[in-house]
Amino acid sequence: MSSVLSVKNLTKTFPSGDRTITVLDNVSFDLSAGDTCAIVGPSGSGKTTLLGLSAGLDNPTSGSVMLCGYAIDSLSEDERAAVRSEHVGFIFQTFRLIPTLTALENVMVPAELRGRSHVGDEAREMLASVGLADRTHHYPAQLSGGEQQRVGIARAFINRPDILFADEPTGNLDADTGSSIEDLLFKLNATAGTALVIVTHNPSLARRANRILKLRRGAIELDELQQAASHVSQSA
Ligand SMILES: Nc1ncnc2c1ncn2[C@@H]1O[C@H](COP(=O)(O)OP(=O)(O)OP(=O)(O)O)[C@@H](O)[C@H]1O
Ligand SMILES: [Mg+2]
Repeated sequence: MSSVLSVKNLTKTFPSGDRTITVLDNVSFDLSAGDTCAIVGPSGSGKTTLLGLSAGLDNPTSGSVMLCGYAIDSLSEDERAAVRSEHVGFIFQTFRLIPTLTALENVMVPAELRGRSHVGDEAREMLASVGLADRTHHYPAQLSGGEQQRVGIARAFINRPDILFADEPTGNLDADTGSSIEDLLFKLNATAGTALVIVTHNPSLARRANRILKLRRGAIELDELQQAASHVSQSA
């Protein structure tokens, strides 16, 4: 299987007064096309930071990231944005919808940024698939937290990414909605081969991935392969 993500010796530090805080400490892992990986660990252990660096949203202090064949630290900001637009989907812990655009328009943005036209119908289908067919003309402020998260998920899917990064995708959802979102993520993995990297505090979601990375104080404490885990979970 070809590599979609190769993270090597990634370290991130922040200055804090006269000290330096190490948020990520020499983290390395590789994912192949179609892999599913859960990142778990206590609050503050560096999960969101690792996700952002892996997706090329931020620069490491040291170390390297190879994403979908690109050494992203050697690219300009524009080149990195182009790689993200073509290959990467991102679901943010804090939604990050554009407040002045409707749900439908928010979902259309990544497709339009790639120069695709007439994506309205596709965006409507994406919203229907996350249960929001009747919310297309709502603005983010008119949507509940869970609804905003589902708009974010539809937006992340629209360009059919090779790899999808999701930061607590079900953290704000009730159990039923959360499990239907989980099913959507794993269906995308099964049908389109989209690799998944999911940060979660939810043990049952983590068990559906074929790999679990456990972070503790910025370092990988446990790297666990789970054979056929999603199959076990589906049949349970
Ligand atoms: N820009 C920044 N400047 C300084 N410290 C930061 C910055 N961003 C993150 N940190 C620190 O890095 C640590 C890891 O943060 P991160 O958001 O990656 O944690 P997390 O594992 O995602 O936590 P949670 O489960 O609460 O979302 C935290 O202690 C945080 O305070
Ligand atoms: Mg976080």
